[in-house]
Amino acid sequence: MTLIDVVHGDITTQRVDAIVNAAKSSLLGGGGVDGAIHHAGGPEILAACKALRATTLPNGLDVGAAVATTAGKLPARWVIHTVGPVYSPHEDRSHLLRSAYTRSLAVADTLGARTVAFPLISAGAYGWPKEDAIRQAVTALTAARTAVEIVTLVAYDRSVAELMRRTLA
Ligand code: APR
Repeated sequence: MTLIDVVHGDITTQRVDAIVNAAKSSLLGGGGVDGAIHHAGGPEILAACKALRATTLPNGLDVGAAVATTAGKLPARWVIHTVGPVYSPHEDRSHLLRSAYTRSLAVADTLGARTVAFPLISAGAYGWPKEDAIRQAVTALTAARTAVEIVTLVAYDRSVAELMRRTLA
């Protein structure tokens, strides 16, 4: 059984085995939570991402897929990078958003991570309406078959944390 917890705060300070990054396909960093993770974790994370691009992921990471690197100076041991879909009002991409959660947990399982923190993937620069982003996250996380024991949903805004708690209740 996986326990789902909600925390209002900064994902980079979470003391968990792995934190998930809402990355872009290039894996070469960006703004939002991606920028915060690279900034706080130091250059080791970008070096590891570049190494992946030079070897197994020459075309970058697919939307809905996930891959792990070192977490550099962060308290977590690993960063699991995933790419959420850009929101579209014309096309249902929600399976790709759920896949970002499910495949991140699958990567966590291969690492042996038991505690994993997620940001609200796609709900910033990628424009996903927050309430539905939370619903997709909870749907994917509750359905996943995983050895991860505690999933922490990290909300940067207090109002989002409250919405998460309400959705889980
Ligand atoms: N800790 C936790 N959550 C955070 C943090 C942080 N330090 N910083 C931002 N967030 C929250 C945002 O408030 C938002 O709810 O993470 C959620 C996801 O927002 P983005 O980081 O913009 O991610 P996303 O919408 O998936 O867009 C990905 O943004 O900069 C990039 O390189 C990244 O191109 C990629 C795109």
